[in-house]
Amino acid sequence: MAHPSHNRRTFAIISHPDAGKTTLTEKLLLYGGAIHTAGSVKARKAQRSATSDWMELEKKRGISITSSVMHFDFGGIRYNLLDTPGHQDFSEDTYRTLTAADCAIMLIDAAKGVEAQTRKLFDVCRMRGTPIVTFVNKLDRPARDPLDLMSEVEEVLGLNTAPCTWPIGSGELFQGVYDRIQQAVLRFERSEKNAKPVPVTVSGIDDPHLAELLGEGPVETLRDELELLDGAGDQYNRESFLAGRITPVFFGSALTNFGVEPFLAAFATMCPPPGPHHAADELTIEPEDPRFSGFIFKVQANMDPSHRDRIAFLRVCSGTYEGGMRVHHFRLNKEIRLARAEQVMAKERQTVETAYAGDIIGLYDPGLFRIGDTLATGGPISFDSVPRFSPEHFARMVLLDPMKRKQMQKGVEQLSEEGTVQLFLEPGREKDPIMGVVGELQFDVLKYRMQQEYGANVELQRLGFEHARWVDGPSSPEDLVRARISMGVADVDGRPVALLRDDWELRRAQEDNPDWVFNKTAPIRAA
Ligand code: G4P
Repeated sequence: MAHPSHNRRTFAIISHPDAGKTTLTEKLLLYGGAIHTAGSVKARKAQRSATSDWMELEKKRGISITSSVMHFDFGGIRYNLLDTPGHQDFSEDTYRTLTAADCAIMLIDAAKGVEAQTRKLFDVCRMRGTPIVTFVNKLDRPARDPLDLMSEVEEVLGLNTAPCTWPIGSGELFQGVYDRIQQAVLRFERSEKNAKPVPVTVSGIDDPHLAELLGEGPVETLRDELELLDGAGDQYNRESFLAGRITPVFFGSALTNFGVEPFLAAFATMCPPPGPHHAADELTIEPEDPRFSGFIFKVQANMDPSHRDRIAFLRVCSGTYEGGMRVHHFRLNKEIRLARAEQVMAKERQTVETAYAGDIIGLYDPGLFRIGDTLATGGPISFDSVPRFSPEHFARMVLLDPMKRKQMQKGVEQLSEEGTVQLFLEPGREKDPIMGVVGELQFDVLKYRMQQEYGANVELQRLGFEHARWVDGPSSPEDLVRARISMGVADVDGRPVALLRDDWELRRAQEDNPDWVFNKTAPIRAA
């Protein structure tokens, strides 16, 4: 019998806000039978402010600060879809979530191409070699030239493209897509609610029937474009795809449901099952390994204010999770019992009895877990799967009520451990710590939680830095300042970190100090 992990596919969608992630997610969940009516995900997105009780701030803002994991079954396979928070709730969590995914769908708006947030998320995938399947969305609306879009992906992301389908016209003139693998035309027929894809098999691009079907002009254009692709484009090749060097590309329209089903069918064959994970001491853990192992990639506080609990999200890497099992907690070097795990699908939680490699479980956390922690049975294992990512916004935290120094310290320590913010200390000014975040909203969350949970009123004075770099070479933050870097600070582990104003300063710092290595990420230390 096949190992249960072989039936798991764990993936995330990377996109810029408004590209259609919610719409596509909903269509995937509909196909998978996880939801039954169109509009449910959308409605949830809209109603979050009204119904969510996760956090007061969330209510006020009307947005989701927290993310969730969804799952659905399709063709005998369990798909785990990790939600990557976007919009204003973009944070380090968004990056970290990708460390738990085995594959990503890159969703691109056909009128806009590769946008900023997609690029940032792509960088994380590139760093980890995550394979990417691309869906170009909104073809029912006026779109950019598809050849242009492909060049943009190649130039901006440095990722080769292998179009598996190709659009025939766009907007009002959108007729459907040509399936290059099946040599079939999938016609787009507008109907009241959804588009109806009508597959027509042709004997190839030279089939005389094509002109009758699509008209002389569009067929001419299609032939020219396909000829160009055949000559200059790349062919889909599984090995290059799995290595993250090439992306298969599909075109469609999530809203009208056009091209989603063939996309999902292709995705099902392409998306890889869980692979091995590398641990310390050159140990490689295969998903089939009978020892249970997994790592925490996200800790979410106060989902339910009446419980004041935390949920730690664990990605299972091998073995079987079973309720009540005892595991070794590497950082604490002790045995703990995993009393209760949940599958968290948005607000609804279900208790999980068993879980396999590729699955994500939410562990009830009485304060034992930190991001990057490894839990395992059968001996100590330590994965270093979740790095710290360079924050993009920085602020100095100044205490407004001097009597609350202890409270502030506790809050800063705990929130940085939880991974909500990153803490940096400037030599000589340790009492006004510098906080770094990936998404600006985290500053509001920070201020609010410092007040609500720790009773410390703080002011956050914004600092004009764009990058943090963990620097190999200097022995202290002072060395960085001597090298004319705007600010030298230490991270929570005492490592020297350069805070830099912009790309220009970063480049100059690298040129001036050719022996130093400026790292965009840093491993989270296990002890
Ligand atoms: P996001 O989660 O990535 O932010 O995007 P979301 O799915 O919410 O989609 C953003 C907008 O784009 C929505 O319109 C949605 O209906 C529209 N959209 C998504 N896919 C397609 C598509 O294939 N074709 C077209 N024409 N539009 C698409 P909205 O006006 O902001 O919301 P709504 O009023 O439709 O709910």
